[in-house]
Amino acid sequence: MEKRRVIRENQNLREKLSEVGGLARFIGNSPPIKRLKEIVQRVAVTDSTVLITGESGSGKELIAKAIHELSPRSMKSFVSINCGALPENLLESELFGYKRGAFTGAVKDKIGLIKSADGGSFFLDELGNTPQSIQIKLLRVLEQKELTPLGGTERIPVDVRLIAATNSDLKSEVERGNFRADLFYRLNVFPIEIPPLRDRLEDIPLLVSHFIERVCKRLGCDIKRLSKDSISVLTAYDWPGNVRELENVIEQAVLLSSGEEIGGEDLKSYLKRNEKKETFAGLSTQLTPPLSVMEEAYILYVLNQTGWNKSKTAKILGIDTSTLYRKISRYKLKDKAGIIK
Ligand SMILES: Nc1ncnc2c1ncn2[C@@H]1O[C@H](COP(=O)(O)OP(=O)(O)O)[C@@H](O)[C@H]1O
Ligand SMILES: [Mg+2]
Repeated sequence: MEKRRVIRENQNLREKLSEVGGLARFIGNSPPIKRLKEIVQRVAVTDSTVLITGESGSGKELIAKAIHELSPRSMKSFVSINCGALPENLLESELFGYKRGAFTGAVKDKIGLIKSADGGSFFLDELGNTPQSIQIKLLRVLEQKELTPLGGTERIPVDVRLIAATNSDLKSEVERGNFRADLFYRLNVFPIEIPPLRDRLEDIPLLVSHFIERVCKRLGCDIKRLSKDSISVLTAYDWPGNVRELENVIEQAVLLSSGEEIGGEDLKSYLKRNEKKETFAGLSTQLTPPLSVMEEAYILYVLNQTGWNKSKTAKILGIDTSTLYRKISRYKLKDKAGIIK
């Protein structure tokens, strides 16, 4: 009886846990997200390696954590490292650990992060940028389930489930010779692709209420509402920074809007603020326009700078005033005066 009670209690606790952890925090109901959640649930219980791909801010880390929480390893640790953020030798010593004297400053043995996740899951974030020397060592962790710390000779057994994430197309990195094919195929046993937010705009309302609720709870303020026009503002945008960007915009809107309702116009100004301000003579450098467009924009830019002083402008541009007049009429710049600042 006692045993049965404990088993039931354990079951209940596990169910509760999967309500707070697991996929509960991954908001979204669109068909691609439903499919994604099904795949995650299925793959989590296997012990297979997972490769998560998706644009930055699309939720790769959240999915990696969910896989761990839904797996039989959930009671052990989930350890992660951002492979793109550290220089090669530091990344290597963090991952695999080192022996005393392995390099200057190594005053005592240090256990690596992979070993510290023993029995649990290890998350390799931004794996696409990992140097080749480290790729070989990761392959050994996968194939032989062992590693050797820097400056050491012994082989340390390690039992971790690897979950990797990348925002680059690893397959083409393999073709270009930047990423080892053997490691790619080892990791790619279970590929999981997270679609960008712009391909699942119908998730926006749910995500928005989730983020509003969270910020308001944190700030201890009343829940703010979104005006009717604001959802259409949010769904008209293409979200290059994905869910992370949406999260930031909503936080700003809640913090900065004064009324109890957040309006579409407010949101527009936060979207603008987050836009990349990389411009050349008023043109976005993300575009690659033909020379004539650049010429037109640049002439207009200088004209506006000089307050439409033609001789000054011609001098700055290094052309005759007559040429300048011709270009002004060809590009109909008089009609556009003051448009591009
Ligand atoms: N589907 C989602 N539901 C709730 N929050 C999300 C979702 N996707 C992403 N987020 C949030 O957006 C931010 C970026 O997610 P993250 O997993 O770090 O993305 P990535 O690792 O792909 O850059 C995090 O704060 C995360 O909590
Ligand atoms: Mg990330």
